[in-house]
Amino acid sequence: MTARQPTVSVLLEPGWERGSLVEDVRRGLGSQPRTLPPKWLYDEVGSQLFDQITTLPDYYPTEAERAILRTHASDIAARTDATTLIELGSGTSDKTRLLIEALRAEGRLHRFVAVDVSEATLRQAAARLASTYPGLEVQALVGDFTLHLGHLPEGGRRMVAFLGGTIGNFYREERAAFLGALADHLAGGDWFLLGTDLVKSADRLIAAYDDPDGVTERFVGNALAVLNRDLGADFDLGAFSYVPLWDSRMQRMDLRLRAETPQRVRLPGAGLEIDLAMGEEIRVEISTKFLPDQIDDELVAAGFSVAGRWTDTDGDYAVTLARRE
Ligand code: SAH
Ligand code: TRP
Repeated sequence: MTARQPTVSVLLEPGWERGSLVEDVRRGLGSQPRTLPPKWLYDEVGSQLFDQITTLPDYYPTEAERAILRTHASDIAARTDATTLIELGSGTSDKTRLLIEALRAEGRLHRFVAVDVSEATLRQAAARLASTYPGLEVQALVGDFTLHLGHLPEGGRRMVAFLGGTIGNFYREERAAFLGALADHLAGGDWFLLGTDLVKSADRLIAAYDDPDGVTERFVGNALAVLNRDLGADFDLGAFSYVPLWDSRMQRMDLRLRAETPQRVRLPGAGLEIDLAMGEEIRVEISTKFLPDQIDDELVAAGFSVAGRWTDTDGDYAVTLARRE
């Protein structure tokens, strides 16, 4: 069989970046504490830096999740009857291959749908998958998983995978809203496979988000470079330092940039001007860590039942299979 080309649908309207970025920036940077939503971290430079992060020796989540899928993907696949696999925030869909292969071995999977805001990364990943799995229909949806769940393809038995611990990048109320919206858009009996990083010692967590070569710092700092480029902002990138904190009360990494000098920043594209005091911090991203019971509670509250959980041998990371009631 010859490889089919992936179908690519762009759900984002032309110019969306601009409008949506302006709103996010006005809301997030214009108020206290100053925040930025994570999806803006993943332009082409950011997606490449993230890919480098996944290979850092202290950044364990990627390898832990890969090990879980390597060992248990066939078990996961055998418990489900999925004919379509949909991956949210798919990035390079690298680990997903293990899942695709296990589901293919069950003989039912005929379609893979990848959803990501990062268009270039998504197109490349979809093209590669289409050529590796000639019998598989591959679709790429360039879209935002907080806005476009209503566009997920219908039909057959669906399994939605949300890997990489990306759910931890939502704030608590965003997470509940996301899980609720996902449950609303799934049919009874559809599957949800969720990858979550687990609570562990502060030392290991900080090491995972603060590498000696500064890759993580460049990834987080890239958020300001995106604003300089897309909104004509004049952040002095050298005047910020990277502050990775473990917030033990909220059980999350809190990744911030601190202004080392007082500064006035103009963001003409957003019609905004902000004064940062010396030492003032911008919260660029959080990464929540979970306890297994909490994952269950949140899934159940959203309308799922938990069908299985797998962890790596060190117990660092969990993959949970849930089913829409
Ligand atoms: N699943 C991959 C990538 C995780 S990084 C892995 O496990 O390694 C998070 C991915 O989610 C990036 O590819 C980023 O572009 C995407 N992403 C972040 N916010 C998004 C949003 N709101 N909608 C769609 N994709 C998003
Ligand atoms: N989902 C990833 C995580 O929470 C994203 C990520 C990896 C990340 N490394 C980062 C976010 C460093 C900010 C900074 O682990």
